[in-house]
Amino acid sequence: MYNLLKGKRGIITGALDQNSIAWKVAEKAHEEGATFVLTNAPIAMRMGEINALAEKTNSQIIPADATNVDDLTQLYTQAQEILGGKIDFVLHSIGMSVNIRKKIPYAESNYDYFMKGIDVSALSFHKMLAVAKKLDAIAEGGSVVALTYMAAQRTYPFYTDMADIKAMLESIARSFGYHYGLEKKVRINTVSQSPTKTTAGSGIKGFGDFFDYADAIAPLGNADAESCADYCITLFSDLTRMVTMQNLFHDGGYSSTGVSDIVMQKMGLE
Ligand SMILES: NC(=O)c1ccc[n+]([C@@H]2O[C@H](COP(=O)([O-])OP(=O)(O)OC[C@H]3O[C@@H](n4cnc5c(N)ncnc54)[C@H](O)[C@@H]3O)[C@@H](O)[C@H]2O)c1
Repeated sequence: MYNLLKGKRGIITGALDQNSIAWKVAEKAHEEGATFVLTNAPIAMRMGEINALAEKTNSQIIPADATNVDDLTQLYTQAQEILGGKIDFVLHSIGMSVNIRKKIPYAESNYDYFMKGIDVSALSFHKMLAVAKKLDAIAEGGSVVALTYMAAQRTYPFYTDMADIKAMLESIARSFGYHYGLEKKVRINTVSQSPTKTTAGSGIKGFGDFFDYADAIAPLGNADAESCADYCITLFSDLTRMVTMQNLFHDGGYSSTGVSDIVMQKMGLE
């Protein structure tokens, strides 16, 4: 390990179980010397798996619904008390679409569900940043990362309303990144991750086939949750202190590849 986060204090959202990308980020952040609090929606706590992660990483858990500004205010206030100072890094690893869960086709999207998806998966990011800024809870040079997916930029039919929602998330990183950067040098980026076998990922229709397809396209293959966590750690570290307002692909080269030999062979074209 490199002690990349030695002395840094963080907030990590979204660790549901061992497959969660946030779970791996927490493990790596601990290895790299950070102290942090874990948070998730109160309903997700019922499974109780997060307790094992808290024990392993010597961290406390603060339940917070990321759509609720009061909860988020409590989160930042308590996190600073527990950790003994301002926050240096925040991971937003939150995503949920009711339209996807209910397998509703994109053109028939239910708008109440759509609004819920926007609130949970995109506006929650704005709220996390707005509350932090109001409380002046993030230290100068602090780093905030949210996780996104390629469907924000190119069409993937099975990703339905989450495609539009992720586009909004990526835009919030740019817009807020400007304001927070100017005032406090806080940097804000999104990481666009390969398909990953997690609860949120596997809930998407046809995920298994698409996972294999992406793996066959990307020269390095799909990036797994652990390597995504490594990348997030670099973004939380001072080594990337001038990187902000970016959407950064972490996908084994998938986003820059038109077609691969493997896929051509599978189609019988070569
Ligand atoms: N799995 C993939 O293929 C993939 C690919 C690219 C990006 N991502 C993104 O990575 C992030 C993490 O997802 P994951 O794949 O680790 O799955 P996951 O299901 O393990 O994590 C999603 C988390 O969001 C939390 N959450 C939902 N509603 C919430 C709320 N109201 N308040 C607070 N937390 C709430 C859940 O409890 C859960 O912990 C998401 O933003 C997801 O869209 C995933």
